[in-house]
Amino acid sequence: LKGPVEMPGLFISFEGIDGCGKTTQVERVAEIIRGTGREVVSVRDPGSTRVAELVRNMLLDRGNSDIDARTELFLYLACRAELVERCIRPALGRGQVVISDRFSDSTLAYQGYGRMLGVELVREANRIATAGLTPNVTLLIDIPVNLARNRRGGKIVDRLEAEDGDFHERVRNGFLEIARREPDRVAVLDGTLPVDDVTNAILDTLALRVPVLLGDVIKSS
Ligand code: TMP
Repeated sequence: LKGPVEMPGLFISFEGIDGCGKTTQVERVAEIIRGTGREVVSVRDPGSTRVAELVRNMLLDRGNSDIDARTELFLYLACRAELVERCIRPALGRGQVVISDRFSDSTLAYQGYGRMLGVELVREANRIATAGLTPNVTLLIDIPVNLARNRRGGKIVDRLEAEDGDFHERVRNGFLEIARREPDRVAVLDGTLPVDDVTNAILDTLALRVPVLLGDVIKSS
């Protein structure tokens, strides 16, 4: 299995519960890295390929409240297999920086911890779906469940967001558990801070963990 270590590119994933502010940060960080002259490929998981976008719509459609938990797991994994083979591996092979809005940790947190399908089972399933590809750095934006809900203005827009508070507590704690287990890969950012402060904390983290990527940006800011 080929891992990112053998590849010239760099793979960064963003994680967190719904409403943590991750998508805003993905956009900002992608722009900042582009500004350094590196080519950046931004993707979202599930999604970013034709088939994965179709499956994404099925997964997020609140009309599909009857999807079985294991079916849901396999649909997310199917999206990821597409994303890895069609977008991420080719981009890393070209030496590009790949930034993914969610990746395997979301499956572990939502299906493993949230749906309680079992952490070991989901870890193994993730390995199969990604053929072993793991991000070089994962930025976990942590925020209490209530604050995330308030930020969304109480609006429920998709099927997973419609789950109850206990589900989202398990997901949040699942993410934190992953970070405790893999501190070298996963950095935890305080998502309760103002947006600019979160961006700066992310840049500091990247400067520390992948100095080649942002050295000049940090020095000049
Ligand atoms: P988002 O892209 O807007 O964050 O929506 C994706 C939703 O799907 C979000 O509620 C988290 C959920 N999800 C899972 O349950 N498992 C997964 O593996 C992934 C990638 C996302």
